[in-house]
Amino acid sequence: MSATALEVPPHEIVVIKPYIRSPDNWKELREQCYSVRIDVFHHEQGFPIEDEIDNLEDVATHFLLRLTSGSDAGKPVGTIRYTKQTSPSTRETYYKLSRFAVLKDYRNYRFGVGLVNALHDYIRTDARKSRNEGSANGNNAPGDQDGFVRVVCHSQIYIKGFYEKIGYEPEGTQVYISRLRSPSGLLTPLEFILYSVRQITPAHVCYSLLCLLFRQFVLLRREACNSSTSEKRASH
Ligand SMILES: CC(C)(COP(=O)(O)OP(=O)(O)OC[C@H]1O[C@@H](n2cnc3c(N)ncnc32)[C@H](O)[C@@H]1OP(=O)(O)O)[C@@H](O)C(=O)NCCC(=O)NCCS
Repeated sequence: MSATALEVPPHEIVVIKPYIRSPDNWKELREQCYSVRIDVFHHEQGFPIEDEIDNLEDVATHFLLRLTSGSDAGKPVGTIRYTKQTSPSTRETYYKLSRFAVLKDYRNYRFGVGLVNALHDYIRTDARKSRNEGSANGNNAPGDQDGFVRVVCHSQIYIKGFYEKIGYEPEGTQVYISRLRSPSGLLTPLEFILYSVRQITPAHVCYSLLCLLFRQFVLLRREACNSSTSEKRASH
């Protein structure tokens, strides 16, 4: 596929959260992220394959961009991840962006910007939620007093133009930072709905369905008992 084609291929961005909140197919989704990274960082850029998967994979939140229509539907073409980290010297909690890649044939469709924006949106909500929870239990929450959180990335030199375009600033050599506004306080109603929906897993849905079925079963049984009692009374 030509990168200069005008039409952007239909696509979606899937969020793969760490731990038990992940969807059932999280392993498969993460494999798809790895496949993009191996293609770009190992096959294209020549980095050792054994360095690609590291010990942050399980604690990171991954984002997967994949195509949604045509013969390539489902094909993974881009990925990025973030981890929440705490500086040992300042105790500041910040976010680190890494493993950012889009397959060569799909560059310049603004998939990269789309992935970074999805990651930023997610970080804003996470920071706000962490601050609300943190202030309640005294934990070290991300963000300064004005509600700005830091997103840090270690950039390869040739890609620095990209980061500058999307508002990241250099901090030393090969380190870029972005300050995202994420004021504390309650989530807006829309953010609250979106946040709540994101927390729903198939296990929650199954549990709710089972509860509904059980309730229905109890009601039916009660109704059956009542009608047989009134039948008995009538026959007397
Ligand atoms: C970095 C990368 C993910 C960008 O993906 P992409 O989908 O091609 O980027 P986009 O289409 O969203 O580009 C957005 C803008 O950045 C520009 N841009 C993209 N790559 C750039 C680069 N290397 N240098 C300067 N500008 C760049 C685009 O031209 C576009 O500009 P515009 O807004 O004027 O149109 C992709 O080039 C890639 O996978 N590179 C190899 C892996 C890599 O180096 N990852 C970064 C590790 S630090």
